[in-house]
Amino acid sequence: MGYIGLPTASTFATHGIDVVGVDVNPRIIETLQSGELHIYEPGLRDLVKTALINGNLRVQTQPEEADAFIIAVPTPFFGNKQADMTFVSSAARAILPHLREGNLVILESTSPPLTTTGLVAPILEESGLKAGKDFKLCYSPERVLPGQILRELIENDRIIGGIDLASAQAGRDLYSAFVKGEIHMTDATTAEMVKLMENTYRDVNIAIANEFSRLADRFGINVWEAISLANKHPRVKILNPGPGVGGHCISVDPWFLVEAAPDITPLIHTARKVNDGQPEFVVKLVKRALGSLKNRRVAVLGLSYKPDVDDIRESPAVETAHLLVQEGAKVKAFEPYKTTAQIPGLNLVESLAEVFSDAEAILVLVSHSPIRNLEPDVVAKLTPARVVIDTVHTWPEDKWTAGGFKVYQLGVGRS
Ligand SMILES: NC(=O)c1ccc[n+]([C@@H]2O[C@H](COP(=O)([O-])OP(=O)(O)OC[C@H]3O[C@@H](n4cnc5c(N)ncnc54)[C@H](O)[C@@H]3O)[C@@H](O)[C@H]2O)c1
Repeated sequence: MGYIGLPTASTFATHGIDVVGVDVNPRIIETLQSGELHIYEPGLRDLVKTALINGNLRVQTQPEEADAFIIAVPTPFFGNKQADMTFVSSAARAILPHLREGNLVILESTSPPLTTTGLVAPILEESGLKAGKDFKLCYSPERVLPGQILRELIENDRIIGGIDLASAQAGRDLYSAFVKGEIHMTDATTAEMVKLMENTYRDVNIAIANEFSRLADRFGINVWEAISLANKHPRVKILNPGPGVGGHCISVDPWFLVEAAPDITPLIHTARKVNDGQPEFVVKLVKRALGSLKNRRVAVLGLSYKPDVDDIRESPAVETAHLLVQEGAKVKAFEPYKTTAQIPGLNLVESLAEVFSDAEAILVLVSHSPIRNLEPDVVAKLTPARVVIDTVHTWPEDKWTAGGFKVYQLGVGRS
């Protein structure tokens, strides 16, 4: 019942399917049963409420017999960047006692190549039933954009990879309950690769934008201007640089390919290292603005991994804040979408007034709309800080300079 499972369950339930939403975390189940949500996603609260009230969605900590089972559990990595498949294995094991002939099982969790056939099928076959013969098995990657999950679940094209054609067809029939995009059938391993290729493609492209920001800094030019001019070329589409790449997907999934085939993935590996190194580049920029960071008071704006979401998993903004603390800075951080979050080692405050109150410099790490829309005259009244370090090109330099701030930007060198 996480960012993927809960929207998926509620969408099925509001399209006439009888759904049991399962999560091993009892607090999540209690929260949902009391009509509250443990995650933020626009529109989700109303959708869950409708699904619970119309009786098509029940939530509980244990699975039960069903026609179809969907697994949407986390697939993080261990410290050594190896995929942690324990959640997928335990979810498959939890289904095992309830698996019946004719059932359909679908894995949605982003997974290394060959997981469906090599990990999930053997676990489910411990039931004595045979995948393909007695039950159907698919891999269907989730490709929604956080912040737009409810719309994209329905409108995006969906890939269904079956371990055989009958499995793919059964998966297609199930998702047809609500998917308005095209449903494309393929085999399970291709479907696994599609998801990993999409996110790796994004990661490598962000890495080159980040490397361009370092080059622009060195050569004394403005990377944002250079990118917008390069993108005038009809076949060029450079992405935006920033403080790094985070979240549950793009910063994790490429490692699944590197782990699976380290001898043939040097580019993917290097892109990961470039993006993971970007918080250190931001810290150098802060040092350029402030000199030594020892005891310097820095207001950090934004901790999530991208704008207008509350997800702080693998966030480079969090990493950057930690690095500043390690340099001796007195950091106060404010995340407008998670004002009461607690992160060990960081001082998170609950309001803009608090984060600004005694700051010497303002470091913008996420272009959240409530941050982007701040006006320099309003901020100037809330803080003694007159230095801004903008890593996401969110505050127009001219305006903030005219408002009395000295502005440093990521990827803008001053030769
Ligand atoms: N969040 C996204 O935007 C997104 C997008 C595409 C793909 N994905 C992939 O979808 C998968 C799920 O991601 P998420 O963001 O929803 O994760 P999440 O952490 O928000 O939710 C996962 C939930 O699964 C529960 N869980 C763990 N083990 C379980 C088990 N054995 N049985 C039942 N519940 C169990 C956890 O308690 C948690 O609530 C991951 O593989 C992720 O990479 C996520």
